[in-house]
Amino acid sequence: MYNLLKGKRGIIFGALDSKSIAWKVAERAHEEGAKIVLTNAPVALRLGTISELAEKTGSKVIPADATSIMDLEHLVDEAMKLLGGKIDFVLHSIGMSVNVRRGNHYTHQDYNFTKTGWDVSALSFHRLMSVLYQRDAMKEWGSIVALTYMAAQRVFPDYNDMADNKAYLESVARSFGYFFGRDKNVRVNTISQSPTPTTAGSGVKGFDGFLAFADKMSPLGNATALDCANYTISLFSDLTKMVTLQNLFHDGGFSNMGVSTAIMDEFMENESSEDIKEEPENKLKK
Ligand SMILES: NC(=O)c1ccc[n+]([C@@H]2O[C@H](COP(=O)([O-])OP(=O)(O)OC[C@H]3O[C@@H](n4cnc5c(N)ncnc54)[C@H](O)[C@@H]3O)[C@@H](O)[C@H]2O)c1
Repeated sequence: MYNLLKGKRGIIFGALDSKSIAWKVAERAHEEGAKIVLTNAPVALRLGTISELAEKTGSKVIPADATSIMDLEHLVDEAMKLLGGKIDFVLHSIGMSVNVRRGNHYTHQDYNFTKTGWDVSALSFHRLMSVLYQRDAMKEWGSIVALTYMAAQRVFPDYNDMADNKAYLESVARSFGYFFGRDKNVRVNTISQSPTPTTAGSGVKGFDGFLAFADKMSPLGNATALDCANYTISLFSDLTKMVTLQNLFHDGGFSNMGVSTAIMDEFMENESSEDIKEEPENKLKK
């Protein structure tokens, strides 16, 4: 380990169980020398296994529903007391679509569910940053990161209304990031992560097929939750002080691909072998 976060204090949202991306970020932040507070919605604290993580990382858990401004105010005040000062880094790792959970098609949503999903997954990021900004809780040169997915830019039909929520989330990162940068020298970025087998990820219809597709499409394969945690740590560290207002793709190269030979091979299976030009062995990999 590199002591990249030595002496830093952070708040980590969204560790439900050991598969959660936030879980890996918490473990890595602890290993890199940070003091952290963990938080999640009260219901998730009952259903998940966050207390194991708290024990492992020597941290306290403060419940907060990200749709409640009062919960967030309480969380930030308590975290500053527990950690003994202003906050250096915050991870927003929250996502939930009621339409996805209930199997409603994108073209036929229940708009009350749409509003709830947007409130939890997207508006919560604005609300969180507003509380941090109003309370002047972020230390100068601190870092705020939220997790997102490429369905904000491109069509992934079964990602449903989460695509729109992620587009909103990424826009909030830029708009609020401007004020955080200008007024407080704090940076705000989103990480656009590969499909990852977690509770939220696996809720998307056809997730296993999609995971395999993305893996075959990406020259480096899918980025794991631990890879994502390592990248997040770099954004919390002082090594990335001047990076802000960015949506950073962390996806093994998927976002810049058109098609890979591995995917093409599956479509060419039925063609006669004379039609297929010979390629050197090493080029047929991905
Ligand atoms: N898994 C993937 O394929 C993938 C890919 C790209 C981005 N992401 C994003 O990564 C983030 C973390 O998801 P994950 O994949 O680790 O799944 P996860 O299910 O482990 O984490 C989602 C978290 O959101 C929390 N949450 C839900 N409602 C909340 C509320 N009202 N208040 C506070 N917290 C609430 C849940 O309790 C849970 O801990 C999400 O933003 C997700 O969209 C996931």
